[in-house]
Amino acid sequence: MSDIVTVIAPVNIAVIKYWGKRDEKLILPLNDSVSATLDTSVMCAKTSVCARPDILENEIWLNGVHSSFCNQRLQNCLTEIKAIARNQKSVTDEFLSWNVRICSVNNFPTAAGLASSAAGYACLVAALAKLYKIQSDISKIARMGSGSACRSVYGGFVRWHAGVNPDGSDSIASQVADSSHWKEMRVLILVVADTKKHISSSKGMTCSVETSELLKYRVEHSVPKRVKDICEAIKDRNFSNFAEITMKDSNQFHAICLDTYPPCVYMTDVSHKIVEIVHKYNEINGDVKVAYTFDAGPNACLYLLEKDISDVLSLIRHMFPTSSNEFVKGLDAPETNKTDVLKDFP
Ligand code: DP6
Repeated sequence: MSDIVTVIAPVNIAVIKYWGKRDEKLILPLNDSVSATLDTSVMCAKTSVCARPDILENEIWLNGVHSSFCNQRLQNCLTEIKAIARNQKSVTDEFLSWNVRICSVNNFPTAAGLASSAAGYACLVAALAKLYKIQSDISKIARMGSGSACRSVYGGFVRWHAGVNPDGSDSIASQVADSSHWKEMRVLILVVADTKKHISSSKGMTCSVETSELLKYRVEHSVPKRVKDICEAIKDRNFSNFAEITMKDSNQFHAICLDTYPPCVYMTDVSHKIVEIVHKYNEINGDVKVAYTFDAGPNACLYLLEKDISDVLSLIRHMFPTSSNEFVKGLDAPETNKTDVLKDFP
């Protein structure tokens, strides 16, 4: 019988978006993407795993609900980890033959465009890697669960290299700068709606690849320069360059969503109001002090520096007086004294 292994993994918010796959099965992206990994104390997934001879079939519990293990991506991650463990002989054959029980919870709304699958799969893969004692680049395996998950494997600012190899061996994440590099950087999440999105990211991007001409332009002409420039802005701690590229990339991503046929509409009137307020605020200040970015949902992620937090929060509370800052709280995973935090963040 194995011990229970528990891991906590953070959410990451992309500043250069991943949108479109060149290989659906291996989850290989069309373009590089860049993100920042958040502090685990705010938004994270927590996953506990164990393997035992008396578990009759593989089981998964998501936010307290017994869910289907038929999910192909989930099975791919488990199969890959077991194959590595077999190769590395890191556990016995008997241990490998036992079924697993997985229990995962998020402390924020699932599937509301808040990168829940990123934290979820990063957490799951890190927990399984620990359970089977494998030594491997786990970003590659997390990618097989959900593309954006490979970036949650590292803290700080992270780049997912699209890679060129057909087997995905070079489609991995690496750190641009660690979490201590830009200590003043903050992210505010404005929860516009915490309901499940009507078009999943996976479906939306498949449809964009098939129908959007703008997507081809983005991949070839916009992203390479943006990735290079934003990595430089991060290294130089140049907030205005960082912010400008972040907003432009979010806007282009949502333009592609609208260029998709039928269109994927993720932003709402409130989301657009936030965009307007941010531009007005930056204009009044004569400097770019806040950047917005929106994933496949209406919720806004604002990047800003610590010194501007109270000013911006007052503005948001003034503009949206009825807004609530509460996240939906998930059920807790089983407590063990062996909880591992995937990476350290300030
Ligand atoms: C808009 O990683 O959820 O958040 O690989 O199909 O699971 P799959 O998609 P997913 O897509 C995330 C898209 C995004 C942008 C990003 O995080 O880069």
